[in-house]
Amino acid sequence: MSKGFDPRFMQELKQRNDIVDVIGSYIPLDRKGNTHWACCPFHHERTPSFAVNQSEQFYHCFGCGVSGDVVGFVREIEPTDFMGAIRILAGRAKMQVPETNFDTEHAIEMKKKRDKMASIMLDSAKFYLSNLYSGDSRAEAHLQYISNRKLSPTTVKKFGLGASLDFYSLPEYLAGKGYSKQDLIDSGAVSEGKNGRLVDFEAGRLIFPIINAFDEVVAFGGRLLEKSDFAKYKNTRETLLFNKRKTLYNINLLKKLKRKRPISEVIMVEGYMDTISLYQAGFENVVASMGTSLTVEQARLIKRYSSNVYISYDGDFAGQNADLRGLEILKDEDLHVRVVPMPDGLDPDDVVKQGKEAYQKCLDEAMPLVDYKIHALERKYTLSDTAQKRRFVAEALEVVAKAESESVKEELLKKLRDKTGISYHALERDLLNGNKERISQEPSTQVQAKIAETASGTDKRKKAMRFILASKLFSAPYAKSFDLTSIVFTDETQNIVAKYVLERENANERIRPSELFEILDESSQELNEILDLSYGDKLTGEVAERFFFDSVRSIQSEDVEKEIQKLNGQYSKETDEEKRKEIAKKLAELMKRRIQLKTKK
Ligand code: UTP
Ligand code: MN
Repeated sequence: MSKGFDPRFMQELKQRNDIVDVIGSYIPLDRKGNTHWACCPFHHERTPSFAVNQSEQFYHCFGCGVSGDVVGFVREIEPTDFMGAIRILAGRAKMQVPETNFDTEHAIEMKKKRDKMASIMLDSAKFYLSNLYSGDSRAEAHLQYISNRKLSPTTVKKFGLGASLDFYSLPEYLAGKGYSKQDLIDSGAVSEGKNGRLVDFEAGRLIFPIINAFDEVVAFGGRLLEKSDFAKYKNTRETLLFNKRKTLYNINLLKKLKRKRPISEVIMVEGYMDTISLYQAGFENVVASMGTSLTVEQARLIKRYSSNVYISYDGDFAGQNADLRGLEILKDEDLHVRVVPMPDGLDPDDVVKQGKEAYQKCLDEAMPLVDYKIHALERKYTLSDTAQKRRFVAEALEVVAKAESESVKEELLKKLRDKTGISYHALERDLLNGNKERISQEPSTQVQAKIAETASGTDKRKKAMRFILASKLFSAPYAKSFDLTSIVFTDETQNIVAKYVLERENANERIRPSELFEILDESSQELNEILDLSYGDKLTGEVAERFFFDSVRSIQSEDVEKEIQKLNGQYSKETDEEKRKEIAKKLAELMKRRIQLKTKK
């Protein structure tokens, strides 16, 4: 992001600091084809997965998921901030940093703005809190919800929970306190409606204030009281105050706890409710990552309080790569990580509801990450079934192969022997053979696996869209004539990427993936997922081409099905003869389209 600089200055700065030269001056790079490789400087690893793309001028690590442009790299690797990185790069290229009074005046302005935001957020939190106990009948649903979830009044107060009752009372209250419209919008607490009128961003929801270590309210999480198609939780967007990467829910109370007693371990959960329930049951050493994959910043934050972390996520999280990646990040910060096994389908909130002891029992069974991965596989397969047992062994050996030391490998193999009845010797041989195979088949198996994963994952549609975007972004020839407007991207990041591509295409200009770092946050998980598809030959060749068109077709078919269903519903309800005819006509067209999609190769 250019953060106040003239875009022309930023462009020249980047042109005069080739990313390969700059990164190469910090770490040795190894060129293979179009890509330069290195061991990632931001997480510990032995085989290079840090890639620098010279033609597109950005870096990306497949191990830990970081990525960015040349400015981002310097900001991360040097002990400095954005301005510092600009100065370093300008110095390198013998360029003048434009006179903006950036340092003093700007810093004072920023501080003022920040204080204003904090004050708006605090006033909002107080407003929500007062709603809850105002006696307003609309708050009854919120109180009922709180009581259904077994939260005591003390707990509610401790976490500052509140209630939003409608769209307009918060913005009106805040405006009445004299805040300007722009400040209110910038705080994230309200947003601008279609008609320009301000609306409560969390309208109608139960409010969970997110408070930083300095006791400032920086954001809100808002929960719907009832099931619906809308997102269950809605968090304040990122603002000057709220940087998701650097925030952990309940860090404020953890800090207070640390003043009272040493914290032997921090329990890390996913959700607001998990945090609050555990805290209420006496497990006060708990924080939440708020549903996203862990970041380096969060790991460093935890480290100030304890060097041991217990990961206590929902039972099925081991299948999700992003989460496991997060755990590696903790390890890289030298935190000791243990994973708390959870009964299938339950989260910590569910378990602790059965009693404090039930959760304590889970904690007592916490185990190192590798053991947990094997434990999770064991639950996935039925070992008494021969075919399933074979699959279990194959997958478990892959886990063992990645263990950190020979002694751990040996220990794990012994456990596998005991679980499966297969001899240690045979397991060891398979492990060694598997290693050889993996090495000789790289990277094509990796590529295949990635594509297979893309095809079979739970979020198939989103992944298909990711692939389509990546093909466009990296100008895959088969994607060239495909019109992106024929697909509706619902994911916010995907939508931004699509818009960018379309804009370039319309202007007949080159698509440069690195430009995305100017409009999107580098830490965007979704952007990383899209960029992940750009290396090796994932986007080239026949398999990719086929996958591209399969993806397009499956998305379009799904959309057609949905539309047909909708129209069918309308048709049966419509009484007006003319309108019925119209609907029938549309339906006929869709049916035709459905057949086309099924037969088109
Ligand atoms: P969960 O759905 O597991 O949360 O999401 P939970 O706290 O267990 O939810 P309930 O209230 O018991 O049903 C974990 C976390 O992920 C984030 C929230 O921070 C949530 O606490 N999340 C989840 C969102 O931001 N948006 C969503 O739509 C869902
Ligand atoms: Mn829950």
